[in-house]
Formats: sequence, C-alpha cells, structure tokens
Amino acid sequence: MKYWLYIFCLLFSCTDQKVQEVNLIPKPQKLEITDGVFSLSYNTNLIVDSLFYTESDYLKEILNLELKGNGNTIELLKKEVLQEEEFFLNISEEKLKIEASTPKGIMRGIQTLRQLITTKKGVVKTTIPCLKIHDFPRFSWRGLLLDCCRHFMDKEFVMRYIDLLAYHKMNVLHWHLTEDQGWRVEIEKYPKLTEIGAWRTEKDGSKYGGFYTKEDIKEILAYAKTRHVTVVPEIEFPGHSVAAIASYPHLSCSGDSINVGTDWGVYKDIYCAGNDTVFVFMEDVLTEVMELFPSKYIHIGGDEAPKYRWEHCRKCQQRITEEGLHDAHELQSYFITRIEKFLNENGRQLIGWDEILEGGLAPSATVQSWRGEEGGIAAAKSGHDAIMSPTSHCYFDYGLDATDLKDVYHYEPIPAELTEDEAKHILGGECNMWSERAPQELIDSKVFPRILAMSEVLWSSSEKDYDNFYSRVQKHYPKLDALGVTYGFESVPITSTVVFNADSFAVSLFKGSPDIRLEYSLNNGTWQDYTTPFGVNSTSTLKARGFKNKKPYGEFEQELIKHIATGKKVNYTIPYNKHYKGTGDNNLTDGLLGSTENFRDGYYQGFSGTDMEVIIDLGEINTFSKINTAFFQYYLSWIVLPTSVSYAISDDGKNFTEIANITNEIPLMKEGKFKHTFNFEKENTKAKYLKVSAKTVGKLPKEHPAAGSDAWIFVDEIIIN
Ligand code: ACM
Ligand code: ZN
Repeated sequence: MKYWLYIFCLLFSCTDQKVQEVNLIPKPQKLEITDGVFSLSYNTNLIVDSLFYTESDYLKEILNLELKGNGNTIELLKKEVLQEEEFFLNISEEKLKIEASTPKGIMRGIQTLRQLITTKKGVVKTTIPCLKIHDFPRFSWRGLLLDCCRHFMDKEFVMRYIDLLAYHKMNVLHWHLTEDQGWRVEIEKYPKLTEIGAWRTEKDGSKYGGFYTKEDIKEILAYAKTRHVTVVPEIEFPGHSVAAIASYPHLSCSGDSINVGTDWGVYKDIYCAGNDTVFVFMEDVLTEVMELFPSKYIHIGGDEAPKYRWEHCRKCQQRITEEGLHDAHELQSYFITRIEKFLNENGRQLIGWDEILEGGLAPSATVQSWRGEEGGIAAAKSGHDAIMSPTSHCYFDYGLDATDLKDVYHYEPIPAELTEDEAKHILGGECNMWSERAPQELIDSKVFPRILAMSEVLWSSSEKDYDNFYSRVQKHYPKLDALGVTYGFESVPITSTVVFNADSFAVSLFKGSPDIRLEYSLNNGTWQDYTTPFGVNSTSTLKARGFKNKKPYGEFEQELIKHIATGKKVNYTIPYNKHYKGTGDNNLTDGLLGSTENFRDGYYQGFSGTDMEVIIDLGEINTFSKINTAFFQYYLSWIVLPTSVSYAISDDGKNFTEIANITNEIPLMKEGKFKHTFNFEKENTKAKYLKVSAKTVGKLPKEHPAAGSDAWIFVDEIIIN
C-alpha cells in the first residue's frame, strides 16, 4: 500500500512539476505536455533545412553547444502551407523538432524553446520537458514604440529591446526618431539636424542629446533582422518638429530662429505647409530614411500639430486658397497626402497617428489610434488598416494608477463596433513607451511586466484567465532576472481609502497584487502589520510599505488633515468634470491633499472651461481664522490657476457676505508644475456656510501652445482652521 502511494506521489509530482516548468508568455494557442524529457548534450545532433541556416546559427548561439553529436536530434524543418509566423514544436525524448513554412515561423519557435531553457542564472537548462505546441499569432502587428528623442537610448539598449521583443514574440519596434526635443537620425543632406537638432540646452545649462549614425542604424537593423523584428522608423510631420526647425529655421512659417525644445508638451512651431522647400526637405529626409530602413511602412507622425501658425501664415493661407481647401485641417490632410504619394511612389506605406483622419484621410494610409479607439474604428469602417494603441491601455509611460498589468491584460484590440469584415483591418496593437519622464535606466521598470500582458493580448487567443496569466508572470520573473530586466511593479502596490466619520478617519489599506504583505506606521512611530482597517483621530502622517517574496515592494505616504470642514458636505453650483472627479463629492473636504507633482493622483478635482463654485455646509456656526485652498498649475497640460478666488460666508446658506477676493498674480505660462494656495486670514470669523468661487481664464490665450482651447482649473482641499 505504502509502495503504491509512493509511486502515485512520484508520478503526480513529476507531471505537476512539468506543468510548472512549461511556463510560456505569451500563452501558446495549443500546448500538450507529454511524458519524458529531451536531454541536451554534446551528443545532440542538429538537422536543418537550408532555408533556416541563419536561424540555426542563432539557435547554436543560444544553446552554446556544438550540436554535432550522434544521439538525439534537434530538427528545424520546413512544413508547407503554414501562416508566416506559425510553427509546430514537438519535443520527444529522441527528437526536438520545430517546423514552419518561413524563417520567421522558425524564429518564433526558437524563442519558445529559449523560454523553456532559460534559467534564473542565465545558464541553459539541459532537460526539456516533452510536449507538443502548435502556435501562431492572433494579430500580425505586435509592437512597442520606443521614444528615443525625449531621452536618448544608446545603440546597445535598442538592440537589447529588439531581443526582448523577440523573446516575447512581439515583432515590431516602432522607433520614434524625431521630436521637438531632439532629432536622432543622421541625414547627410541636412547635417545640422544632428549637429544642432540632436542637442538641447537643459534649464541648468547642461547639454543633453545624442543621435544614431547611419552605421549605428545599419547595425541595429542587421540585429533586428536576425530576430525577425521589423523596425519601423517614425519621422514626424508636420508637428513635433522644433528640433528640425531649430536646425533649419526656414522650414517654419515665421522663419524665426528657435531652440531645440526642453519642455514636454505640444509646440506651436511646426513645418510651414505653404513653403515648397519644406516638401523638398521632407522628400530628401525620407529618401535617406528609406535607403536605411527596409520596412514596408514608414510612420510619419501627424499628431498634435497646432494650427495656430498656419492660420497666421501668408504662405499657408495662400496654399489653402490655391488648393481649394476649407481650413487648416484640410491643409494638414493635403500635407500628409503629399507625403503619402511620395512614399507610395517609392513602394512604401504611410502610417500616421489618428489626427491624420482630420480634414480627410490620405488614400491608403494606416491609422494608429491613440486618443481612444475612435480613430481605429473610423479607419476600419472606411476600409483603412489600423493599429490600436489607445492611451487607456497601451501607454506605458503612464503610471500604474492609470494602467496596470491587469488593465493591459484585459485590453481587446478589436472594438465591439466593428463587423467581422471591418475587424480584419485591425492589424494589431502597440504599447507606447514615451520617454519624457523615463530616461533609459527607467524604461525596463515601465515596460515590464506590462508588456507581458500586451504580448499575450496580441499573440494569444482572446480567451482570458487572469489568474492563470498572473501565476505564469510570477514564474517568468526569474527569466527576466536572467535577461537583466529591471522590471517594475504590476500595479500600484499600496492604495488606501480614508473616510472621515464623525470625529476620526477610518483608514483601509489595499495591496495591488495578491502576494504583498503590508506594514504601516503613524507619525513615524513603530511599523505594524496591516490586517484590518484602523482609526486615526488627529492630523497625522500615514506611511505604509509592502513586501513581496521578502523583498520591498512599494511605499506609500499620505497626510491626513483634520480641520473644521473635514467631512462636511459640499454643494456644487457648477459640476466638476467627470474625468477629474478626485474622490468625488467629498474631494474638497476629505482631509486628503493632492501631491505637488502629480495632478492625476486622484485628489484634485477638475473644471474644464468653467468657473468653480461650491458651498460648504459646516452644519452649525463655527469660529475660524484661516481658509486655505490650493490650486494646481501646469500650463503645458492646460491646467492654470484661476484668475481670482473669492470666499464668502453666510449663516443661512442664501445671503452671502464676501470676506476675501484674492487676485492671482502668477503668470499663466510660468514654467513647471506647482501648487499655489489662496489664503484668507482673520481672527474670529464666524459662519455656518462658506462659498468658495474660483474664476477661470476660460479659453487659453494666444501665446499658449493650445490657444483657444478650454483651460482647466484643478482644485485641492479647502482647509478651514
Ligand atoms: C501621441 O501620444 N502624441 C501619439
Ligand atoms: Zn506657413
């Protein structure tokens, strides 16, 4: 009896262990684990179809073995009529066979094998479980955008990313090479693009920049070819072109000399659409780009091109008249269509961000949908191809509070609005790694682990099982360690809800991943394990920290401010914007402050284009001496201080007496992000109701890059003491 139990346990644990070992991301379409193992050794032989010689060289490199033995065999064989990236991987004790119709398919199979043999220490695992895999991608376009302009990434780093993409069966590197803040690709005909345009003078006077020589690019492309990753260059027109204009000022409407950009945001200086020299420049640049890059697609940007300069430029206006266009949007369409014609004449296809839909889409353009799904839907419905990368799920420069691992995993690239035929126009998707706030050393922590979810969204079947995915991610981390990936968190590790009840705050802490252990402290006192919600009855500093696998996993700090209005009811005469509601109707009296850096932290309330006006009901007549209300400003995100803030008091909630009207003296275009507090101070002020009104500037003024758009007011806690 005992003997049989022993055998049973052995068998059970053996199969169980194999299931554990076969941990693949993205999840294969079909996987069957069978008995036995294949042992890699100096006795292993390699048999390769001549079509796959290059891939077999790569395989030998990763296995680090001679493979000239006479024992078991690895075979890379051609199998007819499979899709381009489809492959079979069959592993038995005698034979490890990968079959595909194309070198690309073989490479995808080799990457599956590579995942099976990667160990934590980076050495190759020599016993590989027997199994049968049949795999193929759901989408043909599985991309990552790397913005090497806001922050420069060195050649080796770019190649490393190509390898990491290949490892996860992603197949497109969308390489963002030109920007306001830096031009990164050498163009022989216009040397100043890299002499001047690749360098910016930071606010502290230091020089920042870099660029890729043609030799660098050739080396990167040769590397990408070995991994069967397509590199699609993005050369931005007509906006995001300040670095080019700084190099060659005649390309802009005004012709004025400007500096390479240093602020993050949207600049109003763009290429002049009325000047034929601009089109000569564009064709010259694209000619050299096409000589370098073999990709079928060239991305020409097209996003965020403010029309202000064109509306005030004689040449642009003349072009509008001559071409019978209606407005500046149609002028942008004219511009893009001219580029498209040039690319098509050279056998290439144009991709542009969804703004290229405005004013009419160029005839055969592919649209990259980023401001939501609408651009992709409109493109597909009009018979154009689309690549989906909506900010809601695909922007890895955004914090985990906006998009975490689970959000990305649940992304569905095919919008529900599309018919089956229209859906065929969705080529796939991309995650976008904009680098304004991410120098090279932070990129890993933003891209990983979220890209694991994206690889699964784009490669695997549309069936979802987050728990299964999550557990595979945990087992994938040692492989990322072996690859030197400094991955970040899966979600915001620690969050809280704080509710003010009667006289104290009830604090609950939440962990972002199931396997985090939490500790907290109050006012820098001793750390305690967090198990259940707790109360705090005075103004306090709350700190919390997390641990996962015994390693630190996130920190958290929050000020709880207990003041006269904490927890009191707020009535809104003007509603707040639903996208920036903060903590909702309690936001202005919840005792919680917004941060000085991050206006999206969930503690600010936003008003778009309108004034703000609220009445706080203190419940009874209270005596106080101070009112402080902070507002946020970051003009590049269109958030500006109110022009004035007024405080008025009342005992009946109807008849109010103004006690202060404070005019804002801070310029609307003051650099940077900051909070500014509008203070009132007078001893012995008595009231039951307080009305707080903040006046908006309304539309952004003409000197602002987004002149004419609605300005935002962002308001924090109204503190009464
Ligand atoms: C974009 O994020 N401006 C395409
Ligand atoms: Zn112009």
